[in-house]
Amino acid sequence: MGKRVAVIGAGPSGLAQLRAFQSAQQKGEEIPEIVCFEKQSNWGGLWNYTWRTGLDEYGEPVHGSMYRYLWSNGPKEGLEFADYSFEEHFGKQIASYPPRAVLFDYIEGRVLKANVRDWIRFNTTVRQVSYDESSKQFTVTVKDLPNDNTYSEQFDNVVVASGHFSTPNVPEFDGLDKFNGRVLHAHDFRDAVEFKDKNILIIGTSYSAEDIGSQCWKYGCKSVTVSHRTAPMGYNWPDNWQEVPLLKSVDGNTCTFIDGTEKEIDAIILCTGYKHHFPFMDAELNLVTANRLASADLYKGLVFVANPQLFYLGMQDQWYTFNMFDAQAWYARDIIMDKISVPDATARAADVDKRVAEEDAIEDDYGCIRYQGDYVRELIAETDYPSFDIDGANEAFFQWKKHKKENIMTFRNNSYKSVITGTMAPAHHTPWKDALDDSKESYLKN
Ligand SMILES: Cc1cc2nc3c(=O)[nH]c(=O)nc-3n(C[C@H](O)[C@H](O)[C@H](O)COP(=O)(O)OP(=O)(O)OC[C@H]3O[C@@H](n4cnc5c(N)ncnc54)[C@H](O)[C@@H]3O)c2cc1C
Ligand SMILES: NC(=O)c1ccc[n+]([C@@H]2O[C@H](COP(=O)([O-])OP(=O)(O)OC[C@H]3O[C@@H](n4cnc5c(N)ncnc54)[C@H](OP(=O)(O)O)[C@@H]3O)[C@@H](O)[C@H]2O)c1
Repeated sequence: MGKRVAVIGAGPSGLAQLRAFQSAQQKGEEIPEIVCFEKQSNWGGLWNYTWRTGLDEYGEPVHGSMYRYLWSNGPKEGLEFADYSFEEHFGKQIASYPPRAVLFDYIEGRVLKANVRDWIRFNTTVRQVSYDESSKQFTVTVKDLPNDNTYSEQFDNVVVASGHFSTPNVPEFDGLDKFNGRVLHAHDFRDAVEFKDKNILIIGTSYSAEDIGSQCWKYGCKSVTVSHRTAPMGYNWPDNWQEVPLLKSVDGNTCTFIDGTEKEIDAIILCTGYKHHFPFMDAELNLVTANRLASADLYKGLVFVANPQLFYLGMQDQWYTFNMFDAQAWYARDIIMDKISVPDATARAADVDKRVAEEDAIEDDYGCIRYQGDYVRELIAETDYPSFDIDGANEAFFQWKKHKKENIMTFRNNSYKSVITGTMAPAHHTPWKDALDDSKESYLKN
């Protein structure tokens, strides 16, 4: 059909886009030429673990925010690909909260089967994307890092799938520069063993705070103190765990909180979230949004309102992940292949306003899960992505929340039913807190 499509990033979102086009091709449809640019040497995005922090071997910012011993924080039954089940990949049903290496293997399995690796230019970072109104084409300028070669190519469409959990949001606290210990952001956290026998202070109360604190507890830190800006997490924490108000100041190893209480601390981990950051996009193409369910400026949550030839995938805050990226990728594909039409700019903006208002009216996390489930349902209803039981996936998330409330250190020992194959997951052979070896081989021993 003559079109060229650039996909930026080969993480779960970018790979979903490749698989979406490949599945149309497999059905005999003529597809555009797809070129995926990935700055790392392998695919998988955040799931492609690196020990590195700071800069990579080429001086580029390290993308990875994942750490050793990371296990899925939600049940796998909420993210299963509808076109590639866990049972198809592993040849059997597996337990519900896989460690990182197991999920990486699963993500990779689908794209190996689709045979799309040749569509990706690895070690190639996107430096600039600009749009020319007269030719209606994008110029994408990239750097081939090992060969130190910068070049530009023209594309009809650009799909930005570069993730939004890599550029740290770092608040400042009085006296941090004089702290007698290590200060780091969650983005640079790698191995919990580093904090064995230490008193750690965590700032923030979301998933990184909860999970990095739990990791450090599991691998033997002395105590965990979690400082909140808005409200404590309120789980039934172990005895050496304490929730305190926001940090006010630091002096040597003494941390003072806004209620005047103090604590001696060895290391501070800022679990204060991330920024959507697209330094390679020209200003008029740049997505500026908070981390929320209804992203700003994206019609249907994926088409850039100001330029409908441009797509952003996976930019929402995430309850649903892999299957939502699939829903978006199939939808973007069908717009690019002229199977779905996009309304005018006024209607696109009105769609965003409606989504924002609907999200603002949600009362609790259960409402958020339903809202995002409905969004996935809305998208897949218009494409040939295999339909699946979204109410069942919502139910897995509801159960997960209940299990966390019951016991935050045992919730990962529970099992749920696949909404793709209908099979119940087996119980894992070892409780999460005792499973210090979380290699793929160990996890799959069931
Ligand atoms: C610590 C942590 C733990 C998480 N755990 C879970 C979990 O348990 N379960 C879950 O479902 N989700 C989890 N997530 C959410 C995560 O966002 C998704 O699972 C998923 O990785 C998002 O996929 P993505 O492709 O949108 O982005 P990413 O995975 O971030 O991939 C983006 C890709 O784009 C590439 N890229 C970036 N910039 C450029 C550039 N300029 N040029 C070329 N390539 C570029 C990157 O190298 C990367 O490969 C977690 C996130 C974090 C931070
Ligand atoms: N095992 C896992 O699977 C795992 C582990 C970690 C992370 N993740 C994923 O990673 C993603 C990001 O999670 P995240 O927890 O890093 O980010 P997040 O969900 O955006 O949460 C950011 C946290 O930082 C706090 N914060 C922001 N600015 C602050 C400030 N100036 N002072 C004090 N607190 C501040 C926020 O507090 P307020 O509430 O006050 O705004 C909030 O608690 C999520 O998708 C999550 O699922 C997964």
